[in-house]
Amino acid sequence: MPQPAELAGLTTLLRDGRGRALHDLRISVTDRCNFRCSYCMPKEVFHKDYPYLPHSDLLTFEEITRAAQAFIALGVRKIRLTGGEPLLRKNIEVLIAQLAALRTPEGEPLDITLTTNGSLLARKAQALKDAGLQRVTVSLDGLDDAIFRQMNDVDFPVADVLTGIEAAQAAGLSHIKVNMVVKRGTNDHEIVPMARHFRGSGVTLRFIEYMDVGATNGWRMDEVLPSAQVIERLQAEFPLVALAASAPGETAQRWGYADAHGHYDAALGEIGVISSVTQAFCGDCNRARLSTEGQLYLCLFASQGYDLRSLIRSPLSDEGLRQQIAAIWQGRSDRYSELRSQMPADLTPQSARQRVEMSYIGG
Ligand code: GTP
Ligand code: 5AD
Ligand code: SF4
Ligand code: SF4
Repeated sequence: MPQPAELAGLTTLLRDGRGRALHDLRISVTDRCNFRCSYCMPKEVFHKDYPYLPHSDLLTFEEITRAAQAFIALGVRKIRLTGGEPLLRKNIEVLIAQLAALRTPEGEPLDITLTTNGSLLARKAQALKDAGLQRVTVSLDGLDDAIFRQMNDVDFPVADVLTGIEAAQAAGLSHIKVNMVVKRGTNDHEIVPMARHFRGSGVTLRFIEYMDVGATNGWRMDEVLPSAQVIERLQAEFPLVALAASAPGETAQRWGYADAHGHYDAALGEIGVISSVTQAFCGDCNRARLSTEGQLYLCLFASQGYDLRSLIRSPLSDEGLRQQIAAIWQGRSDRYSELRSQMPADLTPQSARQRVEMSYIGG
């Protein structure tokens, strides 16, 4: 069994084929969702007879925790639970408690967070916090109730998501973020109202460029509103100042609300833009993804994963599992968004039709 110091050494050495470290692990705990956002799980494809994974195919909480331990030994410091909608997974707080008990080789707890559509948050926020969850990210595409109901496509009211966010704040979950996917012509008129609503609330709002992820959302470049234009529209109403990245490999570019003197005003808070279409951030991408059934994906846009579940269910030792994962990471060369941005706007790479869905791999 390697000692902590050796593991720490291994961690600093582990790099993929493009020199990138392993830092974030995004774990999808269910491929199901109670929303049908057209950019993610369009109703025509994800209908009532859609072949979701049978229960026996899902990694158990014990298997997820064992995999997480191996990843932590290799450098992972942040774990995000995603889906589908992770709060639909039965007893999710039990998994959170198991993950919250894990420590890095240096003896530190991990940054554990979760992405949710907020629909069940009012009911579950306190239990999640009590289980050891530190923070949460809520997806919300607008404040206009009619637009929101249309975008989630299950007629879910915006007020219930806002109540969920308040419940998360009241439960003591910190650093709450709200992610808004911007589709030009659908919800881009909600950019400024969303900023106005969350400015000074302690919640960080982030605007995400609509991406060509998966193979079912009928993505078109003309529905992408470049982040530069999001910033321009915001600047017209609220002065913003650029902030430095808070961590290497961060997805968002941060902007702070400025005071009357043009200085960042921490009381007003910040916003972020995630520009994977117009400004790819593959260069320092340190994210690995574990699907609901235990496939390891090295990129959000990958068409093939590595079958970790078979390894986990084999007699392989913990050390053997670590070595296999390290070897897979070392062979990684993915940089889909960079490659796409080098192609003409109306072309996407050949692999597009085989890409896995975001609801399966985890956003
Ligand atoms: P924080 O630690 O809270 O800042 O998390 P994060 O930004 O790493 O994760 P989050 O799930 O909030 O990411 C927001 C959105 O960015 C996702 O829903 C995706 O749309 C997009 N995103 C996240 N990771 C990647 C990535 O590796 N590649 C691409 N292209 N997009 C990503
Ligand atoms: N483009 C951008 N982000 C997406 N998400 C899902 N599909 C897309 C897409 N096509 C992200 C959103 C949502 C999270 C669950 O996944 O951020 O909030
Ligand atoms: Fe569900 Fe989130 Fe996908 Fe919407 S974006 S369908 S809420 S997983
Ligand atoms: Fe990472 Fe792939 Fe996203 Fe690039 S496209 S940032 S390599 S997940």
